[in-house]
Amino acid sequence: MITPKLNLNSKKITPIRSLRHVRHAFLKTDSSLPRKAIEATKELINKTIAKELDVNTFSSSNTIRIADLGCSVGTNTLLAVKNIINAVQHKFQSQGNGTKLPEFQVFFNDQASNDLNHLFTSLPSEMQYLAAGVLGSFYRRLFPKNSLHFIHSSTAAHWLSRVPEEVEDKSSPAWNKGKVHYSNSRAEVIKAFEAQFAKDMDNFLKIRAQEIVHGELMVLILRGSLNGAPHANDYINKVYELLESSLTPMITSTKSTNSWSLPS
Ligand SMILES: C[S@@+](CC[C@H](N)C(=O)[O-])C[C@H]1O[C@@H](n2cnc3c(N)ncnc32)[C@H](O)[C@@H]1O
Repeated sequence: MITPKLNLNSKKITPIRSLRHVRHAFLKTDSSLPRKAIEATKELINKTIAKELDVNTFSSSNTIRIADLGCSVGTNTLLAVKNIINAVQHKFQSQGNGTKLPEFQVFFNDQASNDLNHLFTSLPSEMQYLAAGVLGSFYRRLFPKNSLHFIHSSTAAHWLSRVPEEVEDKSSPAWNKGKVHYSNSRAEVIKAFEAQFAKDMDNFLKIRAQEIVHGELMVLILRGSLNGAPHANDYINKVYELLESSLTPMITSTKSTNSWSLPS
């Protein structure tokens, strides 16, 4: 792996003070992989909607409510939403209900720190739906019970709700001393991240089960690794390592290095 040489005296380098800085910089430049995930799952979503979506559950209001959780501020979410809406419309038309097409309401969700204004200024002028922004963590309730017909979340739910406590605890065997990520860390560190993921995913699914209309659909696209493959082999983890080795010299104190783990 090649570590880029950074000129720390350059005025162009902004000191990294928080994880949020890193996440924003990273997410702005890395939207092509998430886009590929959305493109790759389009066919699967089409087939699932054609086969499974129950069009009778929204007959009274004739409104279909879709949420994209962890939508970010780029245009990937617009593509995902467009694919879903086209698939639903196709289902209506194929059932001979072409004249009774429903209205669509789309909720774009991300953390409150994300600037959804940016996304809303990119909305197409000829929109097929009514759009609303819902800011806040998807690890808590965001929507009324039984209100959503289609929940979508792509390459977002692998972000944990928090860095596991032990990883930042100097007295714990899982202390991830001086590192910002778990790939290439000791087994105890990896186990702590896995346990946090299990807890978060359990919570995520329980909350979504309340929000979704009974029998309707959720598509979760998550990063994964081949069974048994070391985490360090994962392409994105290599990017995180590169980030780690590039950014660590910019962090001035050991204290801040250790309060700086990536929750992903
Ligand atoms: C890799 S981006 C993917 C964005 C988009 N879904 C796409 O496919 O391009 C992950 C997004 O998840 C969001 N995210 C992470 N944790 C979250 C949470 N707890 N609640 C809501 N959004 C979250 C991040 O802010 C980020 O915008």
